[in-house]
Amino acid sequence: MQSVLITGGAGFIGQNLVHAWRAARPADRLVVVDAMTYAANVRSLEPLIADRSIQFVKGDIGDAALMHRLFDEHAFTRVAHLAAESHVDRSIADPEAFLQTNVLGTFTLLKAALDFWQAKAMIERARFLHVSTDEVYGSLDFTDPAFTEASPYRPNSPYAASKASSDHLVRAFVATYGMPALITNCSNNYGAYQHPEKLIPLMIIHALEGKPLPIYGDGSNIRDWLHVSDHCDALMNVIEHGRSGETYNVGGGNERNNREVVGLICETVDAAFAADANLAARFPSCPAASGGSCRALISFVTDRPGHDHRYAINASKLATELGSRCSVGFEDGLRRTVHWYLDHETWWRDVTSGAYKAWIDKNYGFRIAV
Ligand code: NAD
Ligand code: DAU
Repeated sequence: MQSVLITGGAGFIGQNLVHAWRAARPADRLVVVDAMTYAANVRSLEPLIADRSIQFVKGDIGDAALMHRLFDEHAFTRVAHLAAESHVDRSIADPEAFLQTNVLGTFTLLKAALDFWQAKAMIERARFLHVSTDEVYGSLDFTDPAFTEASPYRPNSPYAASKASSDHLVRAFVATYGMPALITNCSNNYGAYQHPEKLIPLMIIHALEGKPLPIYGDGSNIRDWLHVSDHCDALMNVIEHGRSGETYNVGGGNERNNREVVGLICETVDAAFAADANLAARFPSCPAASGGSCRALISFVTDRPGHDHRYAINASKLATELGSRCSVGFEDGLRRTVHWYLDHETWWRDVTSGAYKAWIDKNYGFRIAV
């Protein structure tokens, strides 16, 4: 039985990890800490909080007193650290929060964990998993080999630079203090509960509402899409069985450019409307409601500054050492994701009201069709 702290557990990957962990390891005690930023949503966790399957703490990982108190109260033996500012466009518009949470917050959490584990002589049996990103490695050309754990760090956005800084802190804690930490660097996740500021949910929701589908630049940028369930399986495997001090890349093996991704979303939404006559009444502004295609909504807009061209992950270390392999193919995962958003209209309507509208105006207001 482990006492587990999951930071950022009310975010997209965090919520999925809490549910996956609860199902896979029912004996573990789970505490979630989350600052409840705009990106957080506890609705899916409410039943677990209500029946005391998990304990939820609203709090900031940068709050040293709170972090020390939580370690004292719960004597964590596992930390899965996901709390972060995660959206690249927001880091371009307003980088400061990224440094506060991703760098200083990670430092504060690392220090609290190390102090507690050293004081209680728990270093040998404790594990700290730092969840990071492939963006720290920078951008690849079409013909470059995929990122390995030995690829040099070349972050290009304030977000990527802040995650790179946090990775370096973790590495330094391992080398200097013998911190029992591991790092994962993964590619683009998609699936249930993803905030609609990110490419896939944004395009699904815009398609349903008959709004433009804004592809940055010429849409040739490539991402390696990883279904969030495969990612969560890998995280639970790495924290338990990975070698302390090591880094593991996690990828989906699904490289697609943004034009392909948006085209596939359009086809999937069109097919859903063709198969279910009720959708036309629920989403009358969607072109598929009147027999057209969502492709008509595609619009190419001003590019993201410093836009990384291609990410690709070589995940062979994870497969060889720990046996983790992705099981969700992209077409299947995307179809499941489109249907999740169709089935959870109330969830995304709540998320896309209020402050979200101000973000959409800020990020897309200045972009012109090209
Ligand atoms: P997200 O933005 O959906 O969720 C982040 C969560 O962290 C939110 O619930 C937010 O409230 C919380 N948070 C932010 N600042 C906090 C603070 N100071 N203290 C406590 N909680 C705070 O992000 P996500 O997509 O779920 O990503 C989770 C982690 O995985 C992040 O570290 C991110 O860098 C990393 N990652 C994400 C992806 C992806 O494709 N989504 C890919 C690679 C790596
Ligand atoms: O690679 C891992 C990273 O993936 C994570 O570390 C980040 O937290 C996560 O946000 C994601 O970063 P990206 O910038 O790749 O994801 P995003 O969904 O913002 O964009 C995916 C691609 O789609 C990217 O090439 C930019 C493009 N895009 C995005 C949006 C929001 C568009 O063309 N139009 C859009 O409106």
